[in-house]
Amino acid sequence: MRSKDFFQIIKKIGNSTSLRPIKFKNILIGRAMCGIVGYIGAKSAAGLIVNGLKRLEYRGYDSAGVVTVEDDGLYVEKCEGKVAELDRRVKYGELRATLGVGHTRWATHGAPTDANAHPHTDNSGAIAIVHNGIIENHAAIKSKLSEKGYIFRSETDSEVLAVLIGCHYERLRNLEEAARAALSEIEGTFGLAMVSSHDRDILIVARRGSPIVIGMGEGEYIAASDASAIIQHTRQVIYLEDNEMAVIRRGGCLTKTIQNVATKGKIHELDYDVESIEKGGFAHFMLKEIYEQPTSFRDAMRGRLMVEDGNVKLGGLRLVEDKIRNAKRLILLGCGTAWHAGLAGEYMLERLAKIPVEVEYASEFRYRNPIISADDVVIAISQSGETADTLAALREAKLKGATILGVVNVVGSTIARSTDAGVYIHAGPEIGVASTKAFTSQLAALALLALYLGRMHSLSQLEGSMIAEALRTIPEKIQFILDHAESVRSIAQEYAKADNFFFLGRGANFPVALEGALKLKEISYINAQGYPAAEMKHGPIALIDDKTPALFIVPKDELYEKTLSNIEEVRARGGRIIAIAGEGDTHIQKLAESVIYIPNTLPILQPILATIPLQLLAYYIAVERGTNVDMPRNLAKSVTVE
Ligand code: M6R
Repeated sequence: MRSKDFFQIIKKIGNSTSLRPIKFKNILIGRAMCGIVGYIGAKSAAGLIVNGLKRLEYRGYDSAGVVTVEDDGLYVEKCEGKVAELDRRVKYGELRATLGVGHTRWATHGAPTDANAHPHTDNSGAIAIVHNGIIENHAAIKSKLSEKGYIFRSETDSEVLAVLIGCHYERLRNLEEAARAALSEIEGTFGLAMVSSHDRDILIVARRGSPIVIGMGEGEYIAASDASAIIQHTRQVIYLEDNEMAVIRRGGCLTKTIQNVATKGKIHELDYDVESIEKGGFAHFMLKEIYEQPTSFRDAMRGRLMVEDGNVKLGGLRLVEDKIRNAKRLILLGCGTAWHAGLAGEYMLERLAKIPVEVEYASEFRYRNPIISADDVVIAISQSGETADTLAALREAKLKGATILGVVNVVGSTIARSTDAGVYIHAGPEIGVASTKAFTSQLAALALLALYLGRMHSLSQLEGSMIAEALRTIPEKIQFILDHAESVRSIAQEYAKADNFFFLGRGANFPVALEGALKLKEISYINAQGYPAAEMKHGPIALIDDKTPALFIVPKDELYEKTLSNIEEVRARGGRIIAIAGEGDTHIQKLAESVIYIPNTLPILQPILATIPLQLLAYYIAVERGTNVDMPRNLAKSVTVE
């Protein structure tokens, strides 16, 4: 069943009908972008865990490791590099264990080396952990433990936690209590999974600031940092809350606080299937996700768009309708692509709702002590719902009394659960590190929000109806662009060797120019800059030469003629012009070396369509240059470090 509203999260088969928002005092910001998988059941653990890690690799891919609890002790394999390298090294033929944990890492503390890769063991070699997060007081704990004679083999804070658990175990002789004692002593954040040869029927997981989901199968449990590693085994999951742990045995799973107070783990049903996290015949996840956009855009609008009434139904905002109606200002927060969506949203919201909008980098927001009042509505935009900077900014806004909303993709994510209300974008899992379908779905959600707010204020039914109708036809127009992707591919081949690239647009197309530049940078490593087209003459035009392509987004809107002048200025300096233009514009062919045509729509929605060829261009250029499209260097999908 698809989730409908922000708080009608997923079909509940537990004992609760609504998911209450979590209070901010409970929310900590996780600081490591890694993937965790743990397994206890009847199947061979190693293969199942490594396969799970492959699903999570987009969360981090600089080193990986696995530990299984064999009859004669722990089997640990870990290495620098991708999960495929780990897979090559694991001696599956010799392994029998049905209990183990694994990890794929994006380094924060310590370089990506074999020694720093997880799992980490205690000094006895009998307890092993994998850990996401950061132990802030690791230095103090390490020196105390060193004084007692404990040794350390890595540069990581995670190993300190492993050794600390081992130290407590020596005294307590009980794994659960040892874990509890250590977790109470550390400051910082963790998503933790732990196994030990002391007890071959126990998997312990815990969470503070870094997500842990527990999948419940037939006589087996799979714990992971996100549901992609679980969905092929079961749809029934428990999301651990902050400061909660689970003690999982083959016969059952108990959730409790770290302080040992029993909690009622609520069971949710995942609302997507395994196909949605597989490539389905496409060469890359990114290409698959680009091609999913007619569907994902439609899904973002499903059940919400009322064309005849010229209005929108957003069930997830019901609880805060009055707050929104009376908002004096909207503040949109996000990072990277989500920030670009916010910038594009600003045009739609100011145009349709006539409410002042500010768009802020979430990473900068709280450091300038922003002036916020109870009349402000702050909207966090986030695909993952786990971005640390966005969470921290939201916390600041909440502290200062604003109503906080989310425009989020991942159901049940921390941002989704921390906000007063919100709008899910329903894009489905996005695996490619470069965000594509989430961006257009964010634009869909923001367009819906703009229409919803517009109709609360001055927008007439007629105007509303026209916009709703235009939105309704966007998916088929996206499909049209995808059906003509071949022309973008040949343009990509022509410009793939460029060292520098400009992306230029005006008005509502400026944010999309920024997004086009970001896509190209991320996956092709070409230095690409996005600018408002008219800004070129104020400096950047000095960089133009006959080797530098300048891509202009130039639909036939109110700024068309002015953008043509900007094109002329770049042409006059020898720049190579690529244009994204509206169907039927023949004049542009006289100015541009290459033209990509997109269907026409209302000017405020045109940026949505202009996005698609930009994604395709970045993709095909990256393929041409032979980069790793889905896992570009230095990046990770979900940025949970500040
Ligand atoms: O999960 P979020 O939307 O909060 O992520 C925000 C950015 O980290 C993300 O959009 C990033 O810029 C992408 N790699 C862009 O493709």
